Amino acid sequence: MTSNNFLGRTVAVINDLTLDERRHLYSKAKELKEAMIRKDRALLNKFKINDEYFGMRRAFLEDSTRTKGSFTSAMEFLNVNEHDFDVDHSSINKSESYFDSINTLVGYDDDVFVIRSKLEGVCRYLEEKTYDLGYLHTLDKPAFVNAGDGKHEHPTQEILDGYTFLEDNHWDYSHLHIALIGDLFHGRTIHSKVDGLKIFHNVKVDLIAPNEIALQDYYVKRMEENGFEIRTFESIEEYLDQKDISKQWYFTRPQLERMGEKVLAKQDELRKGITASVEFLRHLEDDTHFYHPLPRHKEHPTLPTELDGYSVNGWTRQSKNGKLTRIVLLGAIAGVPYICDDFEGQSLEKKVYEDNFIEPLIVENSGVKNYKQGVRPLKNGVVIDHISRGSTPQEI
Ligand code: CP
Repeated sequence: MTSNNFLGRTVAVINDLTLDERRHLYSKAKELKEAMIRKDRALLNKFKINDEYFGMRRAFLEDSTRTKGSFTSAMEFLNVNEHDFDVDHSSINKSESYFDSINTLVGYDDDVFVIRSKLEGVCRYLEEKTYDLGYLHTLDKPAFVNAGDGKHEHPTQEILDGYTFLEDNHWDYSHLHIALIGDLFHGRTIHSKVDGLKIFHNVKVDLIAPNEIALQDYYVKRMEENGFEIRTFESIEEYLDQKDISKQWYFTRPQLERMGEKVLAKQDELRKGITASVEFLRHLEDDTHFYHPLPRHKEHPTLPTELDGYSVNGWTRQSKNGKLTRIVLLGAIAGVPYICDDFEGQSLEKKVYEDNFIEPLIVENSGVKNYKQGVRPLKNGVVIDHISRGSTPQEI
């Protein structure tokens, strides 16, 4: 292992990786995929961690097939000490908080945690709350990777989506014209695109959603601030009624489990405007691709299974790309030299967690006293007094 900019990095949101870093990881993932296709074992081995002491743990507090499955497969490929947090049989079912549970597991030598949860911002919180344990195998502090937190972000899905767009864009970063369709309000994969799509130099985004599940204004504003050209449509029919149609369509499912009663009551009506059909294909260029982070509803899919056999199917490859992009990301966090050493470009400054506000004092033994009740004085140890909020020693 080597010291580098990627080592031990938490990825709570997509902006936790700079554009240069993301582009570097994409080029490594491309190389890995080519090595997998060629079955080039010598090169594949260079991507591995091969360290039985390096611990990685999956903590999925929300259901998942693709993200959990591909992270498991990626950890097995990397050849580390990987294991699972068995949520269904954990003390979370005895009302223990997520923080207490995860913080407990941090004490069991895991260098990297991959966490899916309804709690938005949980990875950033844990990154800031956990401390240098002094005995993790490689890292000073555990790194946290967000595998989807509520309707906030899904940065590793963004990495695999971006990779798949690039493949279909012939690795051209100069532009992207994409249609984002479906439940843009609840879709965390959409929210990660607000900054994720910045890897492309010129970005045009067509937002297609009924008002009830349209993208929040603050995300639209941020896309505009990022220089994206934005157009909005209430349905696919309205979109197809004009001439400037994207060749890359990204569908998202209506997130019924996150909807309020009023919106839920309208689900059939809402679904009509955001559901694909074989009929649409005659309006589209031959090299058009549809994508979907999946899962799709088995009775009401917005991307009908009938389309699976058409060349428009980008979602099957997209899902497979999840494994290789996650291998590269976890490998980078573990400091695999082949992944990290030739990185050039802008990185984020390493976060420093200052602890110089702790002043150790020697406790003088002033003789034996008998205390019948209340707090008893320490004979030996450290007293931490007057703990205040603040980020810097000056604020504290
Ligand atoms: N795309 C995605 O996050 O799928 P899962 O919920 O199956 O992990």
